[in-house]
Amino acid sequence: MCGIVAYIGRRPATPILLEGLKRLEYRGYDSAGVAVLEGGKLKMARAVGRVRNLEELIEKQGKFEGSLGIAHTRWATHGGVTDKNAHPHCDDSKLGHGIAIIHNGIIENYASLKTYLTEKGHTFVSDTDTEVLAHLIGEVYKGDLEKAVQAALREVTGAYAIAVVCQKEPDVLVVARKGSPLMVGVGKDEYVVASDSSAIVAHTTQAFTLADYTVAKLTRDSFRTSTVDDVPVNAQVKELEFDLAEIELGNFEHYMLKEIYEQPRALRMTLQGRVDMRGGQIVLGGISQLARQLATSRRIVFVGQGTALHACMIGTYLMEELGKIPSDWSYASEFRYRNPIVEEGTVVVAVSQSGETADTLAALQEAKSRGAMALGIVNVVGSSISRETDAGVYLRVGPEIGVASTKAFVGQVMVASMLSLFVGRRRYLSADHVTKFLQALDRIPAAIERALLLSDHIKKATEKYIERENWLFLGRGLNWPVALEGALKLKEISYIHAEGMPAAEMKHGPIALIDKGMPVVFVATRNSQYEKVLSNIQEVRSRGGHVIAVATEGDEDIKSMAEDVFYVPDVPELLQPLVTVVPLQLMAYHAAVMRGKDVDKPRNLAKSVTVE
Ligand code: AGP
Repeated sequence: MCGIVAYIGRRPATPILLEGLKRLEYRGYDSAGVAVLEGGKLKMARAVGRVRNLEELIEKQGKFEGSLGIAHTRWATHGGVTDKNAHPHCDDSKLGHGIAIIHNGIIENYASLKTYLTEKGHTFVSDTDTEVLAHLIGEVYKGDLEKAVQAALREVTGAYAIAVVCQKEPDVLVVARKGSPLMVGVGKDEYVVASDSSAIVAHTTQAFTLADYTVAKLTRDSFRTSTVDDVPVNAQVKELEFDLAEIELGNFEHYMLKEIYEQPRALRMTLQGRVDMRGGQIVLGGISQLARQLATSRRIVFVGQGTALHACMIGTYLMEELGKIPSDWSYASEFRYRNPIVEEGTVVVAVSQSGETADTLAALQEAKSRGAMALGIVNVVGSSISRETDAGVYLRVGPEIGVASTKAFVGQVMVASMLSLFVGRRRYLSADHVTKFLQALDRIPAAIERALLLSDHIKKATEKYIERENWLFLGRGLNWPVALEGALKLKEISYIHAEGMPAAEMKHGPIALIDKGMPVVFVATRNSQYEKVLSNIQEVRSRGGHVIAVATEGDEDIKSMAEDVFYVPDVPELLQPLVTVVPLQLMAYHAAVMRGKDVDKPRNLAKSVTVE
């Protein structure tokens, strides 16, 4: 996902812009660029690769003074990864306006706009949709950048978060958004604009989030917000709940490892203030006003992508088991396009760490348009999905920087457990039953702390297999989504091909893959299907596969059936995913490090996929 940083104030812009880009690197990108305005002259630098390549280029070019500027990290959508496709992009130099723009999102009608502009004599130097928007703004510019941006955006369909400067207006920064996140930090005689608060909080904790179709005109001592039709709108400046320390790496080598070890504390934050042990109640203020409607709903559908989808699968089990409401899960991308039946009494729950995943947002909007109640299980406060919902529950696990999701996953599963208890308590669960479950939930952070002690053992075991390019992950019941999550973790950061599936499914084809020494990971904790899993393990072993088992502490039987066993504490079956996922996260992490991969910024990946 692209990153946007812009600054207007009285300080040198370049250092602020570059530092901001570094705060946004975790979002994933493949090129970066800066444009700074000094004395009516626009100075630009763009470079493929990391932000440090851009810094070196700026060093070489020199003279990047100026207190107004825009900067961008690009995750390629239209056009390859090249310097000329990197942002910022400019309008047609023949017009002489000197307009530069950075953009996160997709201009869906860029082709027709490009044809129109080409017929008017415009020439383009890049393959991007963003350059078309720059030219459109230049085409309608009549001396007022704010008005030109509004006019151009009225012609655009798609998603955008943009920042625009113009050589002829050295005291004006115009920003706008629809669909892609954009936040404006309000400082003293200065504004820092960014895709998320991690690039703002070092300068100010006062900020407002732009709503869709909103344009903000910023000068050094004031700002104005309006719609693309120039109707004034109010911006609500709020205190940013963000602690820089939360996004500092500390003593860890990678954010992913830091966030794996943060899981116990993160879950304690998720639970804090939401558990009434004595009353046997879950307190979820964010959805209390919908409690009765939720408890009497007829179907609950969880939607998400990637790791969040795995949490959806677990949420489905939990809601049926505890809430006793027919439930289901769906890839958000499939849900939105398959013409879903959303009958009376349907609740759709969007699960998302970033709250910006385009497919999940669209699925939620589709469900709402068909009359469903829209709930959210989201981490980022004020994100697009959280704002789209009728109500929701925030994870409260803190910012997740590593592209591979870890603490957000356990947070999503924890909230899904709490939501299921919240509903179940209003249906068939007694206070005593809920209290017992809450006591078990309360012990989960400590259980994860025990599982984290396995790290060195897991590293040693993993080392034996890191040359193997094909792994299988198998599990039954709630351990099936955990197997999928383990496979995804390994894939996305070590680039090893890994496939997860229900253990029973292996015999329906994939068993053909098993050859001598193939690593096959079983999530094989003691649960209602344990004996069946043991049979599957035998089937793998008899074909020469190497079994790596996640098992319950004290289980001696499995020792003789697996090359490696990672023992996790014994917790109730419904809560096992919160603990069994930890060894799989650590295994993926160690495999990626031993294979020399970029753990926090894996190739081709973005922290949040805000495009379809
Ligand atoms: C998980 O490790 C990946 N980063 C990815 O699958 C992610 O879970 C997915 O893109 C959904 O993101 P979201 O939770 O922010 O919606």
